[in-house]
Amino acid sequence: MRQTDHRRHHGRGGQGVKHTFDNSFVWGAATSSYQIEGAAEEDGRGASIWDTFSATPGKVDGADTGAVAADHYHRYPEDIALMKDLGLGAYRFSIAWPRIQPDGSGRIEQRGLDFYRRLADGLLEAGIEPWPTLYHWDLPQPLEEAGGWPERDTALRFAEYAAVVHEALGDRISHWTTLNEPWCSAFLGYATGRHAPGRTEPAAAVRAAHHLLLGHGLAAAAMPDARVGITLNLSHVSPYTPDDHDAARRIDGMQNRLFLDPVLRGEYPSDVIADLAEITDFSFVQRDDLKTIAAPPAFLGVNYYSPMLVSQGGAGPTAYPGSEHIAMKDGGRPRTGIGWEIDPDGLLQLLTRLDRDYPLPSLYITENGAAFPEEIHDTGRIDYLDGHLRACSEAIGRGVPLHGYFVWSLLDNFEWAYGYAQRFGIVHVDYATQQRTLKDSARWYAEVIGRGGL
Ligand code: NOJ
Repeated sequence: MRQTDHRRHHGRGGQGVKHTFDNSFVWGAATSSYQIEGAAEEDGRGASIWDTFSATPGKVDGADTGAVAADHYHRYPEDIALMKDLGLGAYRFSIAWPRIQPDGSGRIEQRGLDFYRRLADGLLEAGIEPWPTLYHWDLPQPLEEAGGWPERDTALRFAEYAAVVHEALGDRISHWTTLNEPWCSAFLGYATGRHAPGRTEPAAAVRAAHHLLLGHGLAAAAMPDARVGITLNLSHVSPYTPDDHDAARRIDGMQNRLFLDPVLRGEYPSDVIADLAEITDFSFVQRDDLKTIAAPPAFLGVNYYSPMLVSQGGAGPTAYPGSEHIAMKDGGRPRTGIGWEIDPDGLLQLLTRLDRDYPLPSLYITENGAAFPEEIHDTGRIDYLDGHLRACSEAIGRGVPLHGYFVWSLLDNFEWAYGYAQRFGIVHVDYATQQRTLKDSARWYAEVIGRGGL
C-alpha cells in the first residue's frame, strides 16, 4: 500500500506533524519460542513448564497448547523471507532452553543449538540483526521439579545455559537479552498461578523475582565481551483520586521499581521491602547478589502495552502480594481486543520518568502491540502502533535515549493462558493451513520503516 493510500484510509494526511527517527533507529518485530515454534518433541527438545501447564485441563483457554503453534521451527526460512520483505532491521526471538538442555542442566543438545544457528545465519543473510532472548518463560520442567525460580540454584543453572549458548552463537549475535519480563515469570507464575508453573505461593514469587534477577546478573557475567541487556514489562501507574497516591506507590513499586532499582541502582527499594514484610523478609539476598545484578547492562528493553490506574479498596489483584486491598480502575479509554486500555501517553510518561529517575543505558522498546480480532483489515492495530510510535518520537525529542522499537508480534501466536484466541500478529496465521497473510498493519509498518518514520 502506498503512503497516500494509508493517509486516505486513516485521514491523517497533511496534518503537519512529522515524526522521523534517525538512520540508526532499530526497526524490529518480536516473537518467542514457545509461542511460535511448535515442534515440541523434535530434535531432542525436553519438556518445559509450559508444556506441562498447557496440558493441564483448565489452565489455557480452549485447551490450546504450543505443540504446533505457528510451526516456525519448520517454516523459519519462509518467515525470514517475510521479514525481509517488510524491511525489518532486527528480529527479536527467544531461545528455548529445553532445546539446548533437555534436562535443564548438564547434557547439551547439539541439534537445538544448530536450529538457532541456522535461524541466526538466515537472518544475517537477509540483512536482519538477530536479537535473541535467553529466557522467555519456557523453563525446563526438571528445573521446576527441583523447585523452580524460587530456588537459588535455578539462577546458577541459567548462567550455565547462557554460557553454552553464548559460546555457540556469540560470533553471530550483537545484542543479547537475558530475561523477558521477569515480573510475569515471578508473579503470574508463582503468585496468581495464571501462568506456568501455576503455583500460588506469594512468598515464593518474591524469591523467584530475586533469583530471576540474579540469573540475569550471573548470565551476563558468564558471557564475556557480549552486549547484554534485560527486558522488563513496565507500566505508567497513576492514582485514581488524590487519596490513592499510596496505592499507586505500592503498585509502581512491585511492577516497576522492584526490577528497575536492583538492575540500575544496585538496591531493592526500601518501601517495597517494607510493603512485603508480612509476606517475606529478603534474607534470600546474599552478599554481592546486588553487585552481580547491577553490573551495568548494555541496554534496557521496555515492554509497554497499557497504563495502570489504581485505588484503595476492593478485593484487589493477587499479582501484587501484600497489595490485595488495591483495585485496578477503568480509565475510560478505548481498549484493544484483549481488553487492555490504549494510552500512548502512558508510554511517553513512562519513558520520560525512566530518564528522570535512573541512570539509563540505551533503551529499546522490545515489545509494543495490540490484540485485535480482524484477520486482515486491522485498522485498530495501525492506530495503536501509530500512536505509540508518536510517543516514542516525542520521548526522543525530550532527550530519552531510545534507539529502537520492536512490534509485538511478527506473527499471530500462542497467547499464553488465552491460547490462540487472541491475535497480536501484524501477519495473520491460519492455524489449519499455517498460511501467513500480511495484515494491513504489516504493510503500514513496512512503509513506516521504508520512510524512517511517520
Ligand atoms: C508480553 C510477553 O512477553 C509476550 O510473550 C506476550 O505475548 C505479549 N506481552 C502480549 O501479552
